[in-house]
Amino acid sequence: MTYQPTTESLSQHKVPDWFNDAKLGIFIHWGVYSVPAWAPLTGELNQVIAERGWEYWFKHNPYAEWYYNSMKLEGSNTYNDHRATYGKDFTYDDFIPTFNTAITKWNPSQWAKLFSKVGAKYVVLTTKHHDGFLLWPSKTVNKPERVAARDIVGELTQAVRKEGMRMGVYYSGGIDWSNQDTTVTDFETLGKAVIQDPAYAKYANTHWRELIDRYQPSILWNDIGYPVAGNASEIIAYFYNKVPLGVVNDRFDLGGQLGLHFDFSTPEYAKLKDINPRKWESTRGLGYSFGYNQNDTNSNMISVDELVNSFVDIVSKNGNLLLNIGPDANGEISKPQLERLLGLGKWLSVNGEAIFGSRNWIRSEGMSSENISVRYTTNKGNLYAVLLDTPSGKTITIQGLTVPENATITMLGAESELEWQQNGENLVVTLPDMSSMEKSPAYTMKISPMPL
Ligand code: GLC
Repeated sequence: MTYQPTTESLSQHKVPDWFNDAKLGIFIHWGVYSVPAWAPLTGELNQVIAERGWEYWFKHNPYAEWYYNSMKLEGSNTYNDHRATYGKDFTYDDFIPTFNTAITKWNPSQWAKLFSKVGAKYVVLTTKHHDGFLLWPSKTVNKPERVAARDIVGELTQAVRKEGMRMGVYYSGGIDWSNQDTTVTDFETLGKAVIQDPAYAKYANTHWRELIDRYQPSILWNDIGYPVAGNASEIIAYFYNKVPLGVVNDRFDLGGQLGLHFDFSTPEYAKLKDINPRKWESTRGLGYSFGYNQNDTNSNMISVDELVNSFVDIVSKNGNLLLNIGPDANGEISKPQLERLLGLGKWLSVNGEAIFGSRNWIRSEGMSSENISVRYTTNKGNLYAVLLDTPSGKTITIQGLTVPENATITMLGAESELEWQQNGENLVVTLPDMSSMEKSPAYTMKISPMPL
């Protein structure tokens, strides 16, 4: 079918299976901000906003990719650190030559191989973040120095496809400080920073079409709204007509005021209480930032256990995880980030069948009598009950779970079938010898066939 630029027409687009199946994407925030790579360790977005509000957030902004904005906020941590380290006359653009020299060392196929090893099925790259710096050699550039010296988007797209993954492009459509130099200090100025100038709308439209034409991405991942004059529906229709199996996120429409179509929502650092039947994708950094932050320590970054648990939780509720990494200017991924990626990958190498290609069950959460939290997924007629902790007894009793009489139960990573019995509404399973199994962030019980 041919899509028209109306919400009615675009809403006929269904989320393709590949996106429902994929579950794990890698988000990459890489750009000029990766040179200073500096932000205070203020905390996780939602908690900071809830406890301290937006003004505090921006003054102590832990998102290192916001350096351009933060360095201008008098008295902010970044303002002070910038002056102390580089001097007051050193501008943001003065970091550009360093970035463009550093990226000569970058090896895109190393990244792609790593992401695929972890188990990711897609990758999303910041092609232009709020600073306006472009990671591809665009024909439309408003400040000639604000362009990468390599076609980072093109080279990564190629490497990612070579490993059998899909490529997505992030583009900051609403904020672009190379076009309009606004300073964001609170929620109000954030809304006002979304550029409405028709000339900019044309600029952003040209970029989106160029990205679609050059790279045929599978995902359009817009950020912080879009100029109304840009008519985002036209971009989305243009995209679907070229890439019918593509998907579009919900951030062309800041707060949903325009009623635009989208394929999936994108809550940041979010945890849902229940299944969201509408496709969603959780996104977060490994620490408090998306861009590389040299201040990150092991203790402010998510642990492998927490990462696995939250990933399973997301998948049980119909979500994908777009897990972010922030490489340094050379394209190196720091050791603590690498450890977390590999830890997740290791867990997936044993438990992947509960995740990839799965769908949520009628319930997402359960509990065992031993107080171990359970998450459910289904795949190919099996039910997977993932235990989010290590059971210590010989049996585990999963509350409120009745399985078919002929069910076979196994634990992924352990060979033998497990004995089980139904105790009223509860399922009692005799566990394998856990001390002989390698310690894992979560253990998956596979129940076949699944309860009807
Ligand atoms: C936000 C932030 C940004 C980050 C993004 C990731 O909109 O402004 O820095 O790129 O979300 O979800």
